[in-house]
Amino acid sequence: MKIAIDGPAASGKGTVARQLADHYGLAYLDTGSLYRSVGAMILAEGGDPNELAVAVDAAKRIDPQNTDQLNIRSREAGIAASIVAAIPQVRGELMRYQRRFALQGAVLDGRDIGTIVLPDADAKLYVVASLETRAKRRAAELRARGENVTDDEMAAELQRRDDRDSNRQASPLLQAQDADLLDTSDLDIETAFRHAIALIEHRLRKNARA
Ligand code: DC
Repeated sequence: MKIAIDGPAASGKGTVARQLADHYGLAYLDTGSLYRSVGAMILAEGGDPNELAVAVDAAKRIDPQNTDQLNIRSREAGIAASIVAAIPQVRGELMRYQRRFALQGAVLDGRDIGTIVLPDADAKLYVVASLETRAKRRAAELRARGENVTDDEMAAELQRRDDRDSNRQASPLLQAQDADLLDTSDLDIETAFRHAIALIEHRLRKNARA
């Protein structure tokens, strides 16, 4: 079984995706970590993520199975990831690994999983939350890691990232036609998970009848 989870930054999609993978006994791939690795590698080497050749070269060199070596969770890596993710050749380099990973049965989360990477997924969720909620969550996460950031600064940064991820030509952030919407703005983790399971079970029953 393949499950595709998409949505904007800090919508809660990663948490939901991880729990779903546990629940169904599937492998889990956070595809954002691949783009973050490319961004973080370029920054670590003093390069410019806006430069096409630099970005494509880094995409060829990252180790998708070992993305934890670089500081991929930093704000800078997130911004650089969003820049390199707009480059079609970078997306092409990372696509093969994602599709191969999914063959074993997996939950993948990202921006274009339901639309481009796994259009034939058995179930798809599009996870959203208000900008205010997302900014609060992400700022708290970064502060816990020692970064100094206010909720308002985070909201402005997420807004810029949403614009870049949604308005690019190559695989923009988009709800697939057959994806179910899950809004986590007012849901705690446990409730969001229960809603996710209910949506997926409903979708699987519908597929079985078709
Ligand atoms: O989900 P995240 O914040 O870790 O993702 C980092 C960046 O990577 C995000 O701004 C857009 C990009 N991304 C993408 O374009 N496609 C994906 N499937 C996953 C992430």
